[in-house]
Amino acid sequence: MIFSLQKTMDFTTSLRTHLKTVLLDEEQIAQRLDAMALQLTRDYRGKALCVVALMNGSYVFLADLLRRLDFPLEVESLRITSYDGTTSTGKVVMHQDRWPDLRGRHILLLDDILDTGCTLAAVRSRFEAEGTVESIRSCVLLQKRTERNRGVTVDMAAFDIPDLFVVGYGLDYRGMYRNLPVIGVLRDELI
Ligand code: IMP
Ligand code: MG
Repeated sequence: MIFSLQKTMDFTTSLRTHLKTVLLDEEQIAQRLDAMALQLTRDYRGKALCVVALMNGSYVFLADLLRRLDFPLEVESLRITSYDGTTSTGKVVMHQDRWPDLRGRHILLLDDILDTGCTLAAVRSRFEAEGTVESIRSCVLLQKRTERNRGVTVDMAAFDIPDLFVVGYGLDYRGMYRNLPVIGVLRDELI
């Protein structure tokens, strides 16, 4: 995968120069996470909360949000994929050897982005089918305004963004750019 990028990708300059636009910078993200953490604290303090993060896209969001939650909670992660490059395959693959037993817990599903909604819907229905958890809500960093999203909604979204392919803050293009601290759109020649 990296090989296909090598022709156009400059490995020596700042990652930010690979973006044609920055949609969200560090400060905007931090402020919104503060507000969400307050809300989550109101909703879940005193309850048996398990944050279930969908990997890999949500790990930066997870780490920053978790450290703002000052009450006891558990964390699990599930490894799910549905994207190939910049398009959703619509097929959700769970790379999971162990499915967590979360009976009696309030579950907060955490994902980087709601696009078609396939990923969250698949995970949610699996927990619902088990019927052993107290409650399930979902929280995403980004929500794309798109027709592709067939009625799947989330309970909480940090930001609504236009229907563009974005990278950074955990979101990747072919495995790259997750370490970019801002969220933006790649320059055309890099895609
Ligand atoms: P959904 O199942 O179509 O909602 O897709 C969700 C997953 O697709 C996310 O967890 C991301 O991994 C990936 N994805 C969707 N849109 C983007 C994007 O704009 N940039 C990077 N990854 C994306
Ligand atoms: Mg993902």
